[in-house]
Amino acid sequence: NEQSTLEVLGTKYKTDEWTNATPRILSLVGRDLHKNPNHPIGILRSLIENRFNGHGYTMYGDLKPNVTVHENFDVLGFPEDHVGRSKSDTYYLNKKNLLRTHTSAHENECFLTCKTPGYFICGDVYRRDEIDRTHYPVFHQMEGARVWKRDDYKNEEELLAKIQADIDAIPKTDLIVEDVGYDPIENPKQDFMTEREADLVSQHLKRTIEVLVDVVFNEAKKAAKLSGSTEEYLNEPLKIRWVEAYFPWTAPSWEIEVWWKGEWLECCGCGDVRKLVLDNSKLDNSIAWAFGIGLDRIAMLLFGIPDIRLFWSTDKRFIQQFKQNQISIFKPYSKYPGTVRDISFWLPKDEEGKFLKLHENDLMEIVRENAGDLVESVKLVDEFSHPKTGKHSQTYRVNYQSMDRNITNDEINSMNDKTRDELVSKYGIQLR
Ligand code: PHE
Repeated sequence: NEQSTLEVLGTKYKTDEWTNATPRILSLVGRDLHKNPNHPIGILRSLIENRFNGHGYTMYGDLKPNVTVHENFDVLGFPEDHVGRSKSDTYYLNKKNLLRTHTSAHENECFLTCKTPGYFICGDVYRRDEIDRTHYPVFHQMEGARVWKRDDYKNEEELLAKIQADIDAIPKTDLIVEDVGYDPIENPKQDFMTEREADLVSQHLKRTIEVLVDVVFNEAKKAAKLSGSTEEYLNEPLKIRWVEAYFPWTAPSWEIEVWWKGEWLECCGCGDVRKLVLDNSKLDNSIAWAFGIGLDRIAMLLFGIPDIRLFWSTDKRFIQQFKQNQISIFKPYSKYPGTVRDISFWLPKDEEGKFLKLHENDLMEIVRENAGDLVESVKLVDEFSHPKTGKHSQTYRVNYQSMDRNITNDEINSMNDKTRDELVSKYGIQLR
């Protein structure tokens, strides 16, 4: 029962049976891509912040990603058995501390400290996930929120008039909007808000996010046109739709989807903040909305970045392409050839003879730890049960490829062998 300590941004943590943040993940803490004004993530952040500066929002960009389980989950009303809390989805520093899985981890603190009607938070967030061109265990989010305190107004009528005036102050966009409203049973408004309050707060929320989306995606179109693209979607008006969603700390909740190059892109979760969260933040007689938007996938579209790993590249040929406040389409410097390795194995049995499942994220983690950014994607390509023995087999295909250089067979073989060995020693699988 060996205990050691781990240090994250100056804070020491005693490790325990919950600790699963790996050295590689911890080495990415503090890279702070969102604080670099010349990096696509930082440029996108500024684009959004510049649009909302001077409109009553405090901008938080320095909140550390090492937070407590309480801040990330409990205070937001996550049920005890929510999957988000599991070790297979989240990087724990120890039982009580983790790397934030979303910027909502700071809602409580920002509601408590913010002196303006609203705030934005930008930060790096961490999730154990699959490996492919659009998934990376670290990405970035921008959180927004806005509060109206009932006590600031003489009566309900005055409060409603103020929210209406705030809505009217938001400029109209040219978006084509489809809105499903909300299902009063599945996605109800909360009792502590009147019908009119819920309606107006939700309108303010939706108009605000529409402005954000309008700014960002119109910039994406401009950049694409400037780079010489003449694709048809560039001349069509932008289409969005509001679909219902569920979050433990908002009700009703929605997600905005943007129609982009022939598919609906999930962009941003949001909703009217639940009373529990407001009460915890000493805003017991207030109403509010909140949203959270992922920056990396949008930055990929905006800058024409084909693989999310590029954001982490320190290659000058990548870094030097981007300049403060400018959106420009990425010019690939060369596509380096990749190589494929299949890993096939039988799953282990437990004491009762049942076949254990290896959690996909655990396999991803081992590959990631050994190959770093040389792994492009990992996919389950085959699965079957042996008709006689009942043994269960899986085959994962690992694509190795570097964004910056040529890779050698020797280096890939040794990484892949290490991964195979660790799958055996840590999870008891039997290689085929
Ligand atoms: N934190 C949520 C996510 O990561 C997004 C969200 C933020 C939803 C705020 C509602 C309110 O998906």
